[in-house]
Amino acid sequence: MTNHNDISLESYLESRRAIINEALNQHIPGDDAYPPIIFKAIRHSLFAGGKRLRPILCLAAAEAVGGDIYVMLPVACALEFIHTYSLIHDDLPAMDNDDYRRGKPTLHKAFNEAVAILAGDALLTEAFRLMSDKELSRRIPAQKILDAIQIISKAAGCFGMIGGQTVDILSEGTEVDAKTLHYIHTRKTGAMIVAAVKAGALLSNATEKQILSLSAYAENIGLAFQIADDILNVEGDPKVMGKKSGTDACRGKITFPALMGIESSRTEIHKLVERAIIELANFDHHAIPLKMIAQYVMERNA
Ligand code: IPE
Ligand code: IPE
Ligand code: MG
Ligand code: MG
Repeated sequence: MTNHNDISLESYLESRRAIINEALNQHIPGDDAYPPIIFKAIRHSLFAGGKRLRPILCLAAAEAVGGDIYVMLPVACALEFIHTYSLIHDDLPAMDNDDYRRGKPTLHKAFNEAVAILAGDALLTEAFRLMSDKELSRRIPAQKILDAIQIISKAAGCFGMIGGQTVDILSEGTEVDAKTLHYIHTRKTGAMIVAAVKAGALLSNATEKQILSLSAYAENIGLAFQIADDILNVEGDPKVMGKKSGTDACRGKITFPALMGIESSRTEIHKLVERAIIELANFDHHAIPLKMIAQYVMERNA
């Protein structure tokens, strides 16, 4: 059953996805470019679907502080490039060894491991090309862009996503305590979500106070998002998710449901989303999309 809120959330997300997909398409040459296989491979993973949460958050944060979402598009695309690279590498046999992602065979299955590694490397590198391109610096002061690049590179690197992924992989099959699980989740997933929101706000001239509130909002939904991912891995529908379920238990991954059970994990998500929404208290109606996204993180089934 859909109520009015569902419809407006769905149509909001759909319209943002359309804008982002068009921009992504413009930034990746077709497979008539040389060498065609790398562009085909990138397109396989990038356009396989994907909820586009990080770019949508970047645009929504810009909007919340009165920014122009179209100016933000190269940064939004760069965030999706980095995220897609992280998924391609996460699925490799040396990592989670998954063969289904975004409703399609994973890249190393559809092509081969070398191409998957290269396509991931390419997406990560191209992200920085996009953010340092004149398209952005014609509209935003170079120092602000540098600050955003610093935020995003910290989130993607050893102090963020790579740190989380490292501990995630090394912890497989071992006993992990709540503190380590918190480290894994806030780094492997939370860091890029926080960076998406912070970069969108910073590049749209948010005040220090606004950036602090929005960062706290994003920390809460980032953790909630990964707990929801853990729950979906237990009980989600692979057809809706476009990826397999049950894989965390198979690989002996530590997850929230494994540590505290499904119901407590759900309660934790509720708490985190409530806290996220409280952080939006001092924003006007322009922050409604951020509020809707917080609710979406709690209710999503994919
Ligand atoms: C999957 O991310 C990996 C996690 C960090 C949980 P998403 O659930 O955002 O995946 P896509 O982009 O929609 O495929
Ligand atoms: C993926 O985490 C996080 C990154 C790729 C940074 P998971 O391994 O838990 O996500 P899924 O379940 O494969 O999407
Ligand atoms: Mg993983
Ligand atoms: Mg995985």
